[in-house]
Amino acid sequence: MNLFAKKSLKTLLSEASEEGQGTLRRHLSAGNLILLGIGAIIGAGLFVRTAAAAAEHAGPGVTYSFIIGAIGCAFAGLCYAEFASMIPISGSAYTYSYATMGEFIAWIIGWDLVLEYALGAATVSIAWSEYLNKLLEQFLGPGSVIPYQWCHSPFQTSPDGVAGIMNLPALLILLILTLILIRGIQESATVNGIIVAVKVVIVLLFIALGWSFINPVNHDPMIPAVSTYTNALGNTHSFGGWGGILAGAGVVFFAFIGFDAVSTAAQETKNPNRDMPIGIMGSLAICTVLYILFSYVLTGMANYTEFRTEGAEASVAYAISTYMTGYGWLAKLVTVAILFGFSSVILVMLLGQSRVFYSMAKDGLVPKVFSEIHPKYRTPWKSNWLFLGFVGVFAAFVPGSIVGDMTSIGTLFAFALVSIGVIVMRKSDPNAERPFKTPLVPLVPILGAVVCGLMIFGLGLENWVRLIIWLAIGLVIYFTYSRYNSKVQKGES
Ligand code: ALA
Repeated sequence: MNLFAKKSLKTLLSEASEEGQGTLRRHLSAGNLILLGIGAIIGAGLFVRTAAAAAEHAGPGVTYSFIIGAIGCAFAGLCYAEFASMIPISGSAYTYSYATMGEFIAWIIGWDLVLEYALGAATVSIAWSEYLNKLLEQFLGPGSVIPYQWCHSPFQTSPDGVAGIMNLPALLILLILTLILIRGIQESATVNGIIVAVKVVIVLLFIALGWSFINPVNHDPMIPAVSTYTNALGNTHSFGGWGGILAGAGVVFFAFIGFDAVSTAAQETKNPNRDMPIGIMGSLAICTVLYILFSYVLTGMANYTEFRTEGAEASVAYAISTYMTGYGWLAKLVTVAILFGFSSVILVMLLGQSRVFYSMAKDGLVPKVFSEIHPKYRTPWKSNWLFLGFVGVFAAFVPGSIVGDMTSIGTLFAFALVSIGVIVMRKSDPNAERPFKTPLVPLVPILGAVVCGLMIFGLGLENWVRLIIWLAIGLVIYFTYSRYNSKVQKGES
């Protein structure tokens, strides 16, 4: 038994070129990938977690948090791009690490990616539920919102003492999107393209129209003095200062997650060598600019303390309807667009999740059911159903802030490992063809790992513990199932 058994680059590439039944279709272009990226990137991170990071950690300094997050993602993104162009195979970071650092690390990353994709989808579906309520309120009046207990987890209580039971709208959107995914990725990419356009227009409108509603008092000081803050779940932690900005970066990092999901579609891309780097870095660059401006406007319009109370849910719609007099239509439009926007994020997350497990199942590390392809739609439909169940449990019964931070920490951990993987691969396979090369190796990968490490640090003890527990569960599965079924270990790969 060799924990560090590697899947050779040659095997990976020959698997990628397999065509015919039982494999995925190749039909996505660079343009589709940028759209897929933006579709996955702009979502709950911007429209929900920005206000939460400002309220709980950084105040208006959340704008700086976005800059730190973007720096970490840019470094890690350059590493992802090298791998994605070199190993254009479904499975993303999991696949790269199988070729570079061996099976055990690959398992850890594949397992860790469940936090990113599955819990990411859960987080956004919870945010979707928040904005659905806002929509009902805007169009039908305050009395028509879904009763608190049916759109909140059992860990949440309303200001007037109603306890949550389960989040039904979050479950509903997951079900709808799972059905779309099962129908096939081509249809999904078209729907996604339309949604992305709407989403970007809304962000631009908010920035352009909202700019004149910035009240300079709210930005003074940009970095609040250090104090303590107790959140709705009763946990007290430090607020403000550079520590707050770093913690805020860990939270809003969620907003960047998704550009790497582009790489999970490598096997469905027409010309992955050229299109992958363009897709990853292009979507990241566009979103970074939008985020910095957006967070500046949002925290300038409303004071961050309002996001602790009346503006805690559906924060952007709150800020518009409270401060942008005469723009009631924009609040409504934003809410509708956000609902569609969140849907595209969930779609890509669910897609990424099923593709990672597709690869892992092909390698024998998880049961074969995850790689069974629908005879007509050619999608891993059974996997889609199983993940609907898994993601649904988190969406229905856990608060968005917890699943959101778990998503961030899991993804940061994967990014750090991928960054290190580039250095390892340059040493172990120096002559492999690299259509896109990460610049300034080892500096860029090291900085990628360090900045992601800092954000992990900023997320605090509770989240470290959750990550460790999740990884421990993964180890149990690896040592009781995966290593006995691994095709690489059995010499079948
Ligand atoms: N980046 C995605 C979002 O913010 C996950 O919703």
